[in-house]
Amino acid sequence: MSLSNATRQDGLTVTEFEPLIKLLASYLQQANAGALPVLPYVDPDTMLQRWNLPIPASGKGMGDAFSLLSRTLAESNHLHHPRYIGHQVSAPLPLAAFCDLVSALLNNSTAAYEMAQVETVMEAHLVSWIAGLAGFDADRAGGLFTSGGSLGTLTALLAARQVMGKRKGIGDLWRDGYAPTGPRPAVLVSAQAHYCVLRAAQIMGLGEQGIVPVRTDSALRVDPSALAAAYETARLTGREPIAVVANACSTPTGSYDPLARIADFCVAKDLWFHVDGAHGFGAAMVPQYASLLEGISRADSLVWDLHKMLRMPALCTAVVFRDKAHSYATFAQDASYLFQGTPEQEWYNLGQRTIECTKGMIALKAFICLQAYGTQYFADYIAGRYALARRFCDLLRASADFECPVAPQANIVCFRHVPAGACAAALDELQGSIRQKLIASGKFYITQTRLTGGLYLRVTLINPATQDSDLQVLLAEIRSVAAESTRRS
Ligand SMILES: Cc1ncc(COP(=O)(O)O)c(C=O)c1O
Repeated sequence: MSLSNATRQDGLTVTEFEPLIKLLASYLQQANAGALPVLPYVDPDTMLQRWNLPIPASGKGMGDAFSLLSRTLAESNHLHHPRYIGHQVSAPLPLAAFCDLVSALLNNSTAAYEMAQVETVMEAHLVSWIAGLAGFDADRAGGLFTSGGSLGTLTALLAARQVMGKRKGIGDLWRDGYAPTGPRPAVLVSAQAHYCVLRAAQIMGLGEQGIVPVRTDSALRVDPSALAAAYETARLTGREPIAVVANACSTPTGSYDPLARIADFCVAKDLWFHVDGAHGFGAAMVPQYASLLEGISRADSLVWDLHKMLRMPALCTAVVFRDKAHSYATFAQDASYLFQGTPEQEWYNLGQRTIECTKGMIALKAFICLQAYGTQYFADYIAGRYALARRFCDLLRASADFECPVAPQANIVCFRHVPAGACAAALDELQGSIRQKLIASGKFYITQTRLTGGLYLRVTLINPATQDSDLQVLLAEIRSVAAESTRRS
């Protein structure tokens, strides 16, 4: 079969793909202009039925694929809509999405260098750049890209467990597993941490007790003076603390833990220091916010999700170690069909250091977009979103019928509507129903979270198109939805 016949058979002709590119361009225009419902919400059972298409023995061709893709666009959550202010998932740069198309088509998997030579060196260069932003010694630092912050956290904590397990006399846990007797490791972290930290600890066999909570201050940041008590609590219950995980920043409120003070504690107690910078590490690029990360240069490992505040499509996560030897310590696996030498000798065979074997060209999009846009573009974007969150907090605090309990350090804001005369006991229910009604209206997509004071509405100002005026409209909508609920009850 000639190449043209082969490609023709796969439907890979420019003319057949042109309509799809045009469809995407017009979709983006509509979404950016806010000319769609943010989320055309449909309940899960109805959606299940809608897409219950029999898998045909004979394919229906490109025309059908095109109309199904149009439907997919129409029925999905529109993150490019300026009023998408929900979870920490970016409105990706179109260029980055096209890089993902290139990645998908090339399908170069990074386990072994020979399979992905360009991606492998792009990852290496990006890891060096991130290490530089963190203030790590360029010659000593190293790392990798992986599929998301949860996997990145597990990767980093596996390294912590392996390195500290040996150092603290718990043993070579990767090789031998846990001894039937003897101490189990514990990790200190505040209750504000993303659930993936607890999940990683449980995957590593530490159990729920393996996470020892550290008290936070009124701004929901780790209170450094509480670290010693958490450490002692762990030891009193037969646990050996091996690490402290710091949030930079936390998921619920975007609070940055005091990294320098935590680093001091880790040095004093010989603990691994991991920074979860999945959301907030980008502040390192922004001179006026970089001080939020003061002390990060002393971290043993850090995780950064570029699919959050670097406008990359999911997934794009960097795990960077201050000492690259630790990155090789995480997994010691023989796989002679892929690797020939020691992991250190084969820095370019990334599968030796990742949970994934087959892994896409994750770094390609970040590498290309950083070349195309330059760091200043991203720094301005992050600075703009952080500043918008501060202005939104001011607006909330200037409104008698809204509360904003934690002044935002990043671009995440928690708040609640407290209409005059509202019954305190009914406030949680009110926030929940406001959120549901807003989402059902298609006008905004927002989230909620529970803080000590109760249930709060929560926004992440991640879309560069969201403006102050959108947030003013949000408050007006909330008031109107709440008033309508009160009238009905
Ligand atoms: C602070 C923080 N860490 C880790 C994660 C998990 O990252 P991912 O969703 O990429 O697995 C998140 C997700 O929102 C997060 O906010």
